[in-house]
Amino acid sequence: TVCREPAVIDLRRHNSNFCASHLQRFCRDQVQKAIDEFDMLTPGDRALVAVSGGKDSLAVWDILLELGYRADGLYIGLGIGDYSDTSKEHARRFAAERGAHLVEIDLPAEYGYDIPEGARAARRAPCSACGLTKRHLFDQAAVDGGYDVLVTGHNLDDEAAGLFGNVLHWHTEYLARQLPVLPAGNGFPRKVKPLVRLSERETAAYCIVRGIEYQVEECPMAAGNRHLGYKEALNTIEERSPGTKHDFYFGFLDRAAALLRAGIGTDAG
Ligand code: AMP
Ligand code: FES
Repeated sequence: TVCREPAVIDLRRHNSNFCASHLQRFCRDQVQKAIDEFDMLTPGDRALVAVSGGKDSLAVWDILLELGYRADGLYIGLGIGDYSDTSKEHARRFAAERGAHLVEIDLPAEYGYDIPEGARAARRAPCSACGLTKRHLFDQAAVDGGYDVLVTGHNLDDEAAGLFGNVLHWHTEYLARQLPVLPAGNGFPRKVKPLVRLSERETAAYCIVRGIEYQVEECPMAAGNRHLGYKEALNTIEERSPGTKHDFYFGFLDRAAALLRAGIGTDAG
């Protein structure tokens, strides 16, 4: 309704169609809104963006740079065959095209194991071993590099699916920490998720209109995991009732997250 350019995407939960340039503006505005609403970043902060080479983390890095934030990237080579090799190429190309700084950590070369081996040794599911390893390396790299804040590319679909899984199993400890900002503490950097107001479809469309090439494949180790099942279930519901994921996640933040934190703080949870 505001311009005559051809629409590239329809967003049913916003009752709108967007052309390429308004889609970019929409995505930047949603990120800025999340940053302001949850006090994620100040213009002087040095941010380290964890980039997997996928659409979300490259989109958030791009948007932060476009908005004028100081943001370097961090890529962790997890040793998952071709998947890791192409992911690294995407992260490197993105950084080189923008003259941005990319910190790289190679798990097999620097720590002597890759994710498939590490998961076998720890007798954990690969995604759980991988999540633990990544969180540890994110913290370490942010602290070593003197960064104020660690940024990840978690989007609305990720957060709604995480919330869904945590509610289905009543993981109250996880629920209390499922927030878009975790404050710094105990040698850990502040952690923020500026894409919580954007869906996967929106970040993918953003990358396409910005000409950002990204890793399209899902991680081969993640196939069939529970998290993907929760995403599919929510997609089915969202298809019938657009806006459900947003209401589920932001309703949780507005109405339940503080109660859970208080409950756990007083040991009543
Ligand atoms: P995942 O745990 O794969 O859902 O990824 C969640 C977030 O972690 C992504 O949006 C990225 O910000 C970050 N991330 C995932 N894989 C890597 C990686 N190999 N190197 C750096 N950051 C990553
Ligand atoms: Fe971690 Fe796939 S990226 S198991």
